[in-house]
Formats: sequence, structure tokens, C-alpha cells
Amino acid sequence: MNLIDIKEVRKKYGNKEILKGVDLNIQTSEICLITGPSGAGKTTLLNILSFLESADSGTYLWEGVNVDNILTKEKRNIRRDKMSFIFQDFNVFEELTVKENLEVFLRYVTTIEKNKWDNLITEGVNRFNMQDRMNTRAKLLSGGERQRLAILRSFIKETKVVFADEPTANIDEKNKNLIVDSFKMLKQEGRAIVIVSHDHSYNDFADKIYKLNEGKIIRES
Ligand SMILES: Nc1ncnc2c1ncn2[C@@H]1O[C@H](COP(=O)(O)OP(=O)(O)OP(=O)(O)O)[C@@H](O)[C@H]1O
Ligand SMILES: [Mg+2]
Repeated sequence: MNLIDIKEVRKKYGNKEILKGVDLNIQTSEICLITGPSGAGKTTLLNILSFLESADSGTYLWEGVNVDNILTKEKRNIRRDKMSFIFQDFNVFEELTVKENLEVFLRYVTTIEKNKWDNLITEGVNRFNMQDRMNTRAKLLSGGERQRLAILRSFIKETKVVFADEPTANIDEKNKNLIVDSFKMLKQEGRAIVIVSHDHSYNDFADKIYKLNEGKIIRES
């Protein structure tokens, strides 16, 4: 069964048709890349996939269940517990350390019990090779390190799918490679990763590549 399966999804803003019948599926342990020109509707598609917006028509199955039949409250829970988001402008608390940022995240964004936090944080920073950054304030982290902090959050959370919108814009090669490695690790953990990017360096390790153009999507590999 696909984790996510959408068919014939259409979306209009005003008179402007953004998505004109889009089909796409995403499995666990898979890195899925969505490319396409600016304005093609990539972010719109991510917003639909993450329940932020609903399609005008078409079907969306989440773990085999039509999302039209999932209550709003349950959708909120899925967003909180099973989805993670990584954006270009990483939202971290500048004055807090890496460890404190993770604690704030665990407290407000997850329902994980407090007695599990220390282990999760220790395991996470070790896996992401950020042990020596644990007590560093976020404002002193590089762009790449911040992004890894954001990815680390989705690792700690029992996320099924990570949505990343242009995660490596403004990041140098070295950090980009580290970010790519972090995504691969999430994949090995059985998570699905959906990356929207113009960056062709993802082509090599994506399991699936879709191209969105003029409202239509084509599977490229
Ligand atoms: N809430 C909205 N209301 C009206 N129009 C919108 C809205 N959101 C997006 N659009 C329009 O839909 C089109 C697709 O936007 P979208 O942000 O999905 O593109 P994109 O592929 O992510 O582009 P980029 O690569 O620049 O981020 C654009 O023309 C945009 O102006
Ligand atoms: Mg966009």
C-alpha cells in the first residue's frame, strides 16, 4: 500500500488553474523529488499533500484511507504526529541551544512523554553528528547546521513523511552533502521524504522524480 496516493487532483485559485489533474504516489523508505519551474504549483501540491489546503477535486488516499473521510481533528493529529516540515527559512529559536530547541519542539510539537526526551535527543544528535553542537545557541549555527537541526527534529519525531520545500537553497556544497546524508538516513529509518527542489544534485539519490509543469505532472524516473 502507498503511504500517499493522489489521483486526478485539481486546484484553482480564482480562475487560474494551478493543478490540472495530478497523479502521484509516495511509499515509505523512499525519496521523492518534485521539480518544475517557479509558479508551477509545487508548494501548492505540498500544501495539499500535508492537509493545509484541500483539492477542488480528485482523490487523496493517506495510508489507503480517503482523506475526505478523515475528521479535521484526526488530520491535525496526523500533521502533528506523522508529518514533518522543512523549509528554506528554518524556524529555530535563535537564543536557545540545540538541546533547548529540541526540548521546545518535543514539548509543543509532539506528544512524546518527558521521560523519553533525553534518550531521544542524545540518540538524535549522535546520529546526526551534532554532539558537539548540543549546547551551542542556534544563532551561532551555520545555515547547514540549522537545516540539520530541522531534519533532526523530524528524526526524533515518529514521522512517516518529511516534506521539504527547497531545503538546500543558500547552502554550500559541504553542508548540502551532510543534508543529503541526513535524508538518506531518514529513508533507511523507513520514512518517506518528499523534496521540492530546482537542485539537480538530488536527481542522483531520489528514488522517484516527478516534474510539474503547466498544471500537469510527469514521472521522469
Ligand atoms: N493562496 C493563493 N492564492 C492565490 N494564488 C496562489 C496562492 N498560492 C499560490 N498561488 C499561485 O499559484 C501559482 C503556483 O504557486 P506555487 O507557490 O505553488 O508555485 P511553486 O511551484 O511552489 O513556485 P516556486 O518554485 O517559485 O516556489 C502561482 O502563480 C501563485 O501565484
Ligand atoms: Mg514554492
